[in-house]
Amino acid sequence: MKVIKERGQPKPFLKWAGGKTQLLNVLATKLPESILSHLYIERYVEPFVGSGAMFFFLKRHFKVNESYLIDSNPELILAFRVVQKDPETLIQALQDLEKTYFCLSEKKRSEFFYHIRNQYNVQRYHLDYHRYNKNWITRASWLIFLNKTCYNGLFRLNRKGEFNVPFGRYKKPVICDEETLQESSRALQDTEIICSDFSLSASYIEKGTLVYFDPPYRPLNSTSNFTSYSREGFSEADQKRLAQFFREMDKRGAYLIQSNSDPKNEDPEDNFFDDLYKGFVIERVPAKRFINCDATRRGEINELIIRNYGAS
Ligand SMILES: C[S@@+](CC[C@H](N)C(=O)[O-])C[C@H]1O[C@@H](n2cnc3c(N)ncnc32)[C@H](O)[C@@H]1O
Repeated sequence: MKVIKERGQPKPFLKWAGGKTQLLNVLATKLPESILSHLYIERYVEPFVGSGAMFFFLKRHFKVNESYLIDSNPELILAFRVVQKDPETLIQALQDLEKTYFCLSEKKRSEFFYHIRNQYNVQRYHLDYHRYNKNWITRASWLIFLNKTCYNGLFRLNRKGEFNVPFGRYKKPVICDEETLQESSRALQDTEIICSDFSLSASYIEKGTLVYFDPPYRPLNSTSNFTSYSREGFSEADQKRLAQFFREMDKRGAYLIQSNSDPKNEDPEDNFFDDLYKGFVIERVPAKRFINCDATRRGEINELIIRNYGAS
C-alpha cells in the first residue's frame, strides 16, 4: 500500500466494544485497488458504525466525498449528531463534569458516577429522540462521561434498557478530549448519521460505493457472549439476514468489506461464515480481542475479513 499522508487527526470519541482500531492497518490494505491508488472514496457507507474507528481512519487518509453512518443504537447516534452539530457546547458541558469530578475523593467520585448514571437512565423517558434539541447535548455529555469513567468503557443495557455498567476507578480519565471532539466534529460535517437497522443502508448503496460492515460478533463461546449493545442483540438469524443483504448489495456493484469473528478459533469444524459467504474472498487475519472480561483469555485469535472483490 502507498504511504498515505494524514489529513487531520479525527478519531473515535467513545470507547466501544468491538472497536476496530487495532485492525485498521490490515483493513486498509484490503481496500479496493482503485481507492488505494487515487486516495479517493466517492461514497462510503458504514451500517454498524459503533465508535466509527474505520470512518475516522478513512477521513484521516483519504478524501471521502460522501458518507453515511448507520447504527441501530439511538444513544450512540444521538451522541454522533451532537458532536457533529454542537461540539463547542458539548465540550463546555464535559469540562464542567470533568471539573466537578476531579475535585472529588474516590468515594465521592463513585457516588457522582452513580448519580449521573441514574439521571441518564431517567432522562430517556422524557427525551424527544426524533427532533434535535438542547437536551441531546446534556445526554451526549453524560454518555461520554459514563463511557470514560465506567468499568472498561463499555456500553451495556439491561433488560429494562438501563445503562448498567459499574464505576471504573480510573485515576485520571480523560473526560473531555477537546481536540478529538473538534476533529471528529469536522470529519462529520458532510456526513449523514442515521439510526436504523443495517438493512436501511440499502438506500445509500449503489455501484462503486464502499461499504464496511462490522456487525456484532457471533459469540466465540458461551462466556464471551458480548452482543448486547442494545436490548435486541444480534442473533444467528441476523447474521444470515446480513449475508443475504451482502449478496444483494454485491449485485449492485458496490465494494463490500466485512470483519467478523472466526468461529474456527474455537471449533475448526465450524463453517458457519465459510458457508454463508461462499463465493466471496474470505481471509483469516490475526487480531487481539479485548472484550473478554477474563484477562487470561484476551489472546491472539483470528478475525475474518470477507470481501466481494479481488484478493490483494
Ligand atoms: C462490532 S460493533 C461496531 C464497532 C465499530 N466498528 C467500531 O469501530 O467501534 C457493532 C455495532 O452494530 C450495532 N448494531 C447492532 N445490531 C444492529 C443492527 N441490526 N443494525 C445496525 N446496527 C446494529 C451495535 O449498536 C454496534 O455499535
